[in-house]
Formats: sequence, C-alpha cells, structure tokens
Amino acid sequence: MDHFTLKDGELHAEDVPLARISKDVGTPVYVYSRATFARHARVFRDALSGLRRPPHLAFAVKANPNLAVLRLLANEGYGADVVSGGELARALSAGMAAKDIVFSGVGKTDAELVQGLDAGIGQFNIESGEEGRELAALAASRGQVARCALRVNPDVDAGTHDKISTGRADNKFGVPIGHAPALFAELSRLPGIELRGLAVHIGSQLSDLTPLETAFAKLGDMLARLRSEGHTITHMDLGGGLGVPYRRGEHFPEPAEYGAMVARITADWDVTLMFEPGRVIAGNAGVLLTKVIRVKRGLNHPFVIVDAAMNDLARPALYGAWHDFDAVAPSGERMTANIVGPICETGDTFALDRETDALVSGDLAVFRTAGAYGATMASSYNSRGFVAEVMVDGSEFAVVADRILPGAIADAERVPDFLG
Ligand code: LLP
Repeated sequence: MDHFTLKDGELHAEDVPLARISKDVGTPVYVYSRATFARHARVFRDALSGLRRPPHLAFAVKANPNLAVLRLLANEGYGADVVSGGELARALSAGMAAKDIVFSGVGKTDAELVQGLDAGIGQFNIESGEEGRELAALAASRGQVARCALRVNPDVDAGTHDKISTGRADNKFGVPIGHAPALFAELSRLPGIELRGLAVHIGSQLSDLTPLETAFAKLGDMLARLRSEGHTITHMDLGGGLGVPYRRGEHFPEPAEYGAMVARITADWDVTLMFEPGRVIAGNAGVLLTKVIRVKRGLNHPFVIVDAAMNDLARPALYGAWHDFDAVAPSGERMTANIVGPICETGDTFALDRETDALVSGDLAVFRTAGAYGATMASSYNSRGFVAEVMVDGSEFAVVADRILPGAIADAERVPDFLG
C-alpha cells in the first residue's frame, strides 16, 4: 500500500497535489512519501516479530541512498547495508550508528576496508578468502578486531532477471558454500577478525519464496556443520531480495509470509538474524513525476515523449522493467502509446504499446514504484543533469536533493593546455 492516490481527480502524494510539486520544483522530479516509507519499515519489522530474538535490520542503501530517506529509516530503528565507501559515509552522516552498519560487496578496496575499521562498523560481509586475509591483516596492524560474516554462494537460482541474480554458482558473489568449512577453519584462526556467521543474498525482485527457503535451508545445514567443527556462530545474515508489484494486479509474497517462512526455517538456529531489505521498503514509496513534452504521431501508436529519460530511471532500458504510468489528472479517456524519453537512442523507451491515460503536451504523469533503484541509478547521459528529489510529509514537502544542472557537471571538467 502506498500514499500516491487520486483525490478530487488529481494524483496526490499524501496530501500534496503532484501538480504543486511540479510548479515549485519543476520536472522531472522524484517524489517520496514519508508515510509510505515508515509504513513499509514497520510492516517488514512486524513480519519478523515471530523470531526468537529481535532481528538486525539493515536497509540496503543502494536502493535509495538519499540522506533524508536514510534519516527516516534510522528513526525507524534501521541500520544500513552498504557496498562502498560513499554509501558508508552517507549512512553515518544520516545518523545511522556505526555498529548497525554492515559492509557488503565483492570489491571493497583497502581504503574502504580501513574506512569501515575506522568507523567501527558492526559487520563486514567478506566475499572471498582473499578479502578475509586482507581485512585481517589491516585490522591486526591497527590493533583492531573486525566482526565478520562469510558470504556464501548457495547455488540457488532466484528465478529473477539475470542481471539481478546473485546466488547461482557462476555469479561473482560470495564463496561456494562448499568452501565455507575450510575458509572458516583458516580465517577464524587469524588475528584481526572475528568470524561470527554466514551471509547470503541470492538476488533481487524475487516473486517466489521457494528459492529463498532453499538457500536458507542450505545455510542452516552449513551452520550446524560449522558448529559441529567447533566454531561459534552468533549471527546469520539473510540478505534482501523480496520483490514488490510493479504492475497493477500483480501479486507478490507479503512480508508476513516471508517472516513466517524465515521463522520456520530458522527455528533452531539460536542466532541473531540480520536482514538487508531494499526494494520492499523503498520501491512503492516513490514516483518519478514527469511532464509530456509532446505527443508525436507514430506508424502504429503515438509516441508520448516525456521529459524524464533512461538516464533518470534506468530500469526499463536496463532490465526491460515495467513501471506503471499514470496521468496526474486523468480525464477518463484512454490511449495506446509508446512512452519514450528525449535521449537519442531507441533504448530510451519506458513502454511500448502501453494502454494508458490519454495525454497531451504539457500534461503531468508519473512512473510508479520508482522509490528503489530510481534516482540512485541516474547518470548524466546526453548531458542531462540529475533530477531533484522531494519528500512529502502530510500536507508539506521538502526538496531533499537539489536538481544538479548540466553546467555543474561540466564545471568539473577541464580542457588541458596542450589542446590550446
Ligand atoms: N543485500 C545485498 C548484498 C544486495 O546485493 C542487495 C541488492 C540487497 C541486499 C537488496 O536487495 P533488495 O531487497 O532491494 O532486493 N538495480 C536493480 C536491483 C539490484 C539489486 C542489487 N543488490 C533493479 O533496479 O532492479
């Protein structure tokens, strides 16, 4: 459920008409609903209320790293799952406690490992023996002990888009689960790290709980084996991955069903469970508000050319992803159209042959479910800037990211003297 609804025939974010945001901030603009974020954060937490111990919840910052979003989630008791020094710095500056931050990712540099050590983060999810040895050496040389989990690759197909599947044996993530006993034996002897658990994340936008259940069951077997070999395991990180509906009428497993499955599979694990939800918290808490530049006649269907493009919302171009598209002030008339942006490549297509509200030049419309992996994946392709972001709270709203104009990006570039 979200708070982007029609009131008196006009689409609102909570109590703010989207037309007002367009007038004040311009388009394209990402609009987030504070109430929706908070609701999703609570629904996910409540879904896990049946666990033996309170879970550790770390929002996957990559889904939406806006500082206001991170502050909102910190206020809801969430920590952060980060995958770069930049995300780590954001989580800290948004007020997340270092101890609540988990650092994931296959390519943490030495500088990033040191940044995590200096900050005193709660856990490093190490993704290889090589990384574990490097982290141990860095921590030991600084007289520190880094708390770690070993990310394993359980070889489970998440059944999602290839580009966002992470738990198959040939994916780059984690270590093959069969290597865990030997690595645990080796790494847990090293000074500088305290290896306290396993981590797993098999992919994103999962529409079925079965692959997750299979992966968690494999993890449970490995937990028992590691304990039988004398290791102390206190934490198990189950990652993120729960999908959300992007298309009206689609059904996805509810967080409560996920929570019940987790409680059942982990009933005798006797650990603190950790989670890294991203999309399920952020996805439906944001829309991308855009304006129709013009409607161009096409061979079959007209092209509705909007002022948002693939550089602002990359998911349709990158994954062929569907985002519902609705007029802000629907007339009741419908049309079938191709929805495209202004960028000079055919990939800049949001939807083909889409039945949608009838639109004319100057009309406002939204791409829904743009709160996760939206603004965060933007680029400045075609020398377009970065769009503004707004957060709505009841009848108020605030700009939470300024629009970055193309000129500001060009300001960072130099023509060297040797070019005259
Ligand atoms: N933990 C780890 C280690 C991850 O790699 C991810 C997502 C998450 C947690 C959060 O997963 P979520 O709960 O959001 O499914 N750009 C793509 C999604 C990439 C997801 C990458 N990893 C998209 O727009 O669909």
